[in-house]
Parts: sequence; structure tokens; C-alpha cells
Amino acid sequence: MMVTKAELVSMGMTAEHFPTDGLPEILLSGRSNVGKSSFINTMTNRKNLAYTSSKPGKTQTLNFYRINDAFYFVDVPGYGYAKVSQKKRQAFGRMIEGYIQTRKELRLAILIVDLRHPPTEDDVLMYNYFKHYHIPVLVIATKADKIGKTLRPRHQKVLHATLGIHPEDHVVLFSSVTKEGRETAWKIITRYV
Ligand code: GTP
Ligand code: MG
Repeated sequence: MMVTKAELVSMGMTAEHFPTDGLPEILLSGRSNVGKSSFINTMTNRKNLAYTSSKPGKTQTLNFYRINDAFYFVDVPGYGYAKVSQKKRQAFGRMIEGYIQTRKELRLAILIVDLRHPPTEDDVLMYNYFKHYHIPVLVIATKADKIGKTLRPRHQKVLHATLGIHPEDHVVLFSSVTKEGRETAWKIITRYV
């Protein structure tokens, strides 16, 4: 996939900030600091399109990135970050749930998990939440650069079993460092937009 245009067009917490052009949307989700914003940068070949940080809690609103004037990546705050206040976490949760439940433009959810560790309880909840609303899911197992080839099958097996991946969904090993998985992820994404 050649990304010729990628721009942040809107940011906000509630529907009045969302785009109104009706283009398909792909939601990024995953725990804080897992690599959601890095995923957007890797997929679009841009260094700093989406703001990333080694400190969790960087993304605080729904951020809409229009890609090739054809669809949006929607970056969101990560879950499971203890240092964000209870109030803020609840507000983030409500914001994302509201989006998932009502947004007609949502075509695919990308759930980003860390290949190094088994999916967390929150990852499982998030996956089941998408399935409850019949939303197709692409699981991106990122930071694959940190796991040697011999250990991969074991980690993949744990990932599949813990999330209980449905047959219609997809799992792709990925790295924002080596760009492994980028082309495979694009092949899947283009089927939904
Ligand atoms: P929040 O916005 O806080 O929810 O975080 P995020 O999920 O957007 O994570 P972000 O993309 O900001 O990345 C968090 C940290 O992980 C940064 O230090 C990245 O450089 C690092 N990182 C992201 N992807 C990879 C990867 O594939 N491999 C390695 N080794 N590090 C990565
Ligand atoms: Mg982020």
C-alpha cells in the first residue's frame, strides 16, 4: 500500500469532533504504551504523524488520521494505565464505548497486543467487547522484534488461546522497529475500507 497522503484532521472526546465525510474508519485499541501510535506511523511511513512516547498515557483524545482521502485510522487512549486518574480512565472508557456502539463508519478494530506477554485481562475484555458488537478484529502482535524466532510459536499459541480468536478474525506479527508485518496488515486492512 502506497500512502501518498496522511493527515490528522480532527481530535476530540465527543461526536461533534468526529469527521462528517462518511469515510470508513479503523479503530486502534490496546493497552497504554503497547504501540498504537507507532503502528499508525509505521503503516503510513511517517516518523511523527501520531505522537508516541516511552511514557504511557500519551494519547488522550480520539484522533482521526485521514489516509489517502480514503479512510481513517482512529487513534485512542490506551487502557490499563494505573497512573491516569480513575475519573479520566472512566471518561476514556465511556468515550471509546460510545464510539464503538454508535459509529456507523467503524469497519474494523485493530487490537494491538504485546507479543512478549500473554494478553492481559483487559485485552480479553476488549476483544470480547468487539465480538459482542460484531466488529471484525485484526490483532496486531507488536514488538515482535523482541522475540526470537524459536520462541514465537509458543507466544502465538498463548495469544490465540487467551483471546479465543474467532475464525473470521486475523492475527499478524508486527514490529514498528523492523516493519515486519506491515504488508500483511495492509492486505487485510484494504479488504475493509
Ligand atoms: P498511549 O498513547 O500511551 O496509549 O501509547 P501507544 O500505545 O500509542 O504507544 P506508542 O506508540 O506511543 O509506543 C510506546 C513505546 O513503545 C514507545 O517507546 C515506542 O518506541 C515503543 N514501541 C512501539 N512499537 C514498538 C515495536 O514494534 N518494537 C519496539 N521494540 N518498541 C516499540
Ligand atoms: Mg498513543
